[in-house]
Amino acid sequence: MKNLLFLVALSATSAGALAASAFTDAEDAVSYRQHSFQLIRHNFADIGDMVKGQVPFDAERAKRRAAALASLTSLPWEAFEVPGADKAKSEAKAEIWQNLQDFKQKAEKFQADAAALNTAAASGSLDQIKPAVMAFAKNCKGCHDQYKAD
Ligand code: HEC
Repeated sequence: MKNLLFLVALSATSAGALAASAFTDAEDAVSYRQHSFQLIRHNFADIGDMVKGQVPFDAERAKRRAAALASLTSLPWEAFEVPGADKAKSEAKAEIWQNLQDFKQKAEKFQADAAALNTAAASGSLDQIKPAVMAFAKNCKGCHDQYKAD
């Protein structure tokens, strides 16, 4: 019975879904990418604070943060490419869709730097983590300056 209710609920939520996507409409896609960035911000802030000495370094927690970032940084991008995603109300600038190749390259660099940070964090050494966090951090401003409204 429980399973049946679950299936009914599932078919109700996916009823109006866009073809070949996890989103019901463009607003849903905006919500997905904005929440992805929020999760990135939380995980980045903690490991950033460790590097700045604002919270004590904890190698295990740094590993968890970096592993999360390695996954999370892959999430937002598909939500920029669903139909209407450029017209929905958000902080994403129109320049994204005018320079989609450049935007995607920035997204790929971001993911590569997250993977490098994950490798550095696996070492457990703050000396290795520091430069990897610095390199990773540059991506935020590098993309926001061009593609995100204030
Ligand atoms: C390749 C481009 C790109 C990179 C790299 C990037 N962002 Fe963003 N970010 C965006 C865009 C575009 C938006 C606006 C999304 C929207 O409103 O739909 C955004 C929005 C955000 C938001 C607001 C989310 C909300 O709730 O509205 C936060 C927080 C954020 N980014 C944090 C970060 C942090 C922290 C980093 C670096 C660790 C980062 N971003 C890297 C493009 C990027």
